[in-house]
Amino acid sequence: MTGIRKAVFPVAGLGTRFLPATKSVAKEMLPLIDRPLIQYAVDEARAAGIDEFIFVTSTGQSVLEAYFGRNSGLERKLKDGGKTNLLNRLRRSNLDDETYNFIQQDSPRGLGHAVSLARDLVGDDPFAVILPDDVIHARRPVLAQMVQNFQGSHMIATEAVPSDRISDYGVVDIAHGTGQVQHLKGLVEKPAADQAPSEFGIVGRYLLHPSIFDQLDGLAPGAGNEIQLTDAIAADIEATGCCGFAFQGERFDCGSVAGYLEATTVFALERAELRDGFKSMLRQRMNLLSAAA
Ligand code: G1P
Repeated sequence: MTGIRKAVFPVAGLGTRFLPATKSVAKEMLPLIDRPLIQYAVDEARAAGIDEFIFVTSTGQSVLEAYFGRNSGLERKLKDGGKTNLLNRLRRSNLDDETYNFIQQDSPRGLGHAVSLARDLVGDDPFAVILPDDVIHARRPVLAQMVQNFQGSHMIATEAVPSDRISDYGVVDIAHGTGQVQHLKGLVEKPAADQAPSEFGIVGRYLLHPSIFDQLDGLAPGAGNEIQLTDAIAADIEATGCCGFAFQGERFDCGSVAGYLEATTVFALERAELRDGFKSMLRQRMNLLSAAA
């Protein structure tokens, strides 16, 4: 084991692309089928051996606290009604009180700022950062793939991105790569397409050495006038090192409506109890569209 036990989940984004839903529902609580986005992220962290969860929120803790805490009344009802499957499903969403913490980020000052707030709770060991908007469909959960390859320097997930979208990402500058592990000589947040140092964009999974906190401390705002995690990692490359990790899996940007719809479709087609009905419904819809064209 690598000793990575803690994960930070920055969940302070406003989710404006999902307004008006996000007027009263936190973005990370939007469901893919029947599990909220945050549950996918927590499950992926658990599969990588993580047992301490740190949520950086904008609105305080109430929504997530209600979600991860026990709902004894509902549990009792399901138990009394003999609904064992539902009860088990419900219980899998519970986190033990002592395993999770909340930090409030009062103003949206960027991903780097959100991570910097976790310094005291993280302490002196390497830790993970998971962006729940990035949902990854993979045979082996991506964070576990990364933990298995972690060597002690910073590690970030990467994937090839079409050039017309590269400027939405942090982009890595690869010195040399062997297989999935790319040794990096630089990173730049949201470069113009013709300035991008490679076609590999950063995806929201990071394993970070705690030296990142010194870099974040006092870091000037970067792209979008926000404190960027990418800039802090770039500043630490010489001292600590950083590799990209070209993971196996398919990533969906669930911060966008199109990515969210695609993820919903892919995850529904994965579910044995939904697959057949959903497939024939999709076929019928496609036929109707072709007939109308
Ligand atoms: C953040 C990171 C960026 C990364 C992206 C992946 O950007 O700053 O480097 O490529 O997540 O989702 P955001 O999408 O929050 O602007």
